[in-house]
Amino acid sequence: MRVLVSDPLSEEGVKRLETEAKVDVMTNLSPEELIERIKDYDALAIRSGTKVTAEVIETAENLKVIGRAGVGVDNIDIDAATRKGIIVVNTPGGNTISAAEHTIAMILSLARNIPQANSSLKGGEWNRKMYTGVEVYNKTLGIIGLGRIGVEITTRMKAFGMRILTYDPFITEEKAADLGIKLTSLDEIFEKSDFITVHTPLTEDTRNLIDEKEFDIMKPGVRLINCARGGIINEAALAAAVAEGKVAGAAVDVFTKEPPTDNPLLEQKGIIVTPHLGASTAEAQVNVAVAVADQILAVNRGELPPNALNMPAISPEVLVVMEPYMTLAEKMGRLIGQLGRDGYDKLEIIYGGTVVEKDSNPVTISAVKGFLDSIGHKVNFVNALINLKEHGITLTESKTEAINGYSNLITLKLVGQKGTTSVYGTVYGKKEGRIVQINEYRVYVPTEGHMILVTHEDKPNVIGPCCTVLGEKGINIGGMHVGRAGKEQLMVLNVDHPVSEETLEKLTRVPGVLKSLLIKL
Ligand code: NAD
Ligand code: MLT
Repeated sequence: MRVLVSDPLSEEGVKRLETEAKVDVMTNLSPEELIERIKDYDALAIRSGTKVTAEVIETAENLKVIGRAGVGVDNIDIDAATRKGIIVVNTPGGNTISAAEHTIAMILSLARNIPQANSSLKGGEWNRKMYTGVEVYNKTLGIIGLGRIGVEITTRMKAFGMRILTYDPFITEEKAADLGIKLTSLDEIFEKSDFITVHTPLTEDTRNLIDEKEFDIMKPGVRLINCARGGIINEAALAAAVAEGKVAGAAVDVFTKEPPTDNPLLEQKGIIVTPHLGASTAEAQVNVAVAVADQILAVNRGELPPNALNMPAISPEVLVVMEPYMTLAEKMGRLIGQLGRDGYDKLEIIYGGTVVEKDSNPVTISAVKGFLDSIGHKVNFVNALINLKEHGITLTESKTEAINGYSNLITLKLVGQKGTTSVYGTVYGKKEGRIVQINEYRVYVPTEGHMILVTHEDKPNVIGPCCTVLGEKGINIGGMHVGRAGKEQLMVLNVDHPVSEETLEKLTRVPGVLKSLLIKL
């Protein structure tokens, strides 16, 4: 595996990568240089500096994984990566404490004017009056975004005697209650807080979450902190609110463009700035670098990384349980793809029995992957669903009580204008997959190797001559199952090797045979 490290990554992470990969560290590449070089690499390790655009991804012919040493992934075009089947991983948690502590340092610096007082004293002044501050004790802190960092700030600032108000539409009242705090509306935060700090990701919903009209409803003398992402608080509006004295001060670690140039936030004395230092501690940098290296190496070994953002995360314990269902579903997908007629527009997956109790998402993706592979679209776990959608095929997933006596049953149906093709499968015992029905024919066949499907009239002296045809060609039959429906039968022969077109043709010439088809699982 060849790994390009294009942002400064701690030595521990690089060393970890070097245990199993060839690593090139090239920081400060221009966008053009990155586009030029990326095609030689299987993995890319970055922080927030490298912009992984759709154009970069388009030229990344061999790239399998993009590893972000940190949390924010707004510098990666995840949709483009997903379409190309490239796994994107990040390292949540590794820098949480550092980012929370930096935010708290910003809150206290703001309250006590520490950076300004420091510059003033070093500039030869002794101005105690000018830098009189405020206590944080008994003040209200509004926290927008109660994720990992928001929670750590909550517990620490409660110890300072602050009243905490939080807004996060994605968390439950129970989680807030466990922390002994109150969930509230954004407006209440704006109206009641003395300090407001944002800790959301940058998304289309959170861009300019705080803008001119929000400043209008804030308490006069409020102080704002942004250690999350540039742009969550509109930079021009914040600079203007501080200049007008409506906002007493602000502390900003992150900018819409980094490094910031011509940024109004840099011009205001009342605004403290740091150059994206939230995660810049010795501890956090080792944590995120090692965590990203481990995930890149896991992808290279064919394992599922724990923090993939564009594929389902499955713990090793769950994977052990799910793997037989995933394997069965993938084989069923392959089978239905080879059986199905053209013009289909819908793939249906129905789960019954014990499989219903499990997380079916990885099983569904496996079925879609098998189906697309069999119709000539090379996809992986990352881009299977998006690829199906791009082919105009709708996917539906449902659950059923009808399990035909099996303890678990997966049904796959390919629906189109020319009719519906169905395949049913079950996991037998703990591990083995069996196809138990193909269209209306009940069978019981293992999901290995190659299968010959022979549809024939339900009458004597058809099966024997078919076996003779294969025997004469030196083809060993590993298993045979016959299913009846009306006046026809479906014979399924498991064979160790593929058979030629000529042999299939010869089978169709056996009296009573209607059709023969080779299926590769
Ligand atoms: P997280 O995913 O654990 O938490 C984010 C929280 O924001 C979630 O609880 C989510 O529900 C909430 N959220 C999403 N949309 C929201 C909205 N519209 N309104 C309110 N809440 C919303 O992430 P985290 O690890 O706590 O990181 C938070 C932010 O800090 C991210 O932007 C991350 O990139 C940034 N960060 C910055 C630094 C730094 O160096 N300055 C370091 C680490 C993380
Ligand atoms: C993050 O999102 O993890 C931080 O912004 C830190 C970083 O970019 O290194």
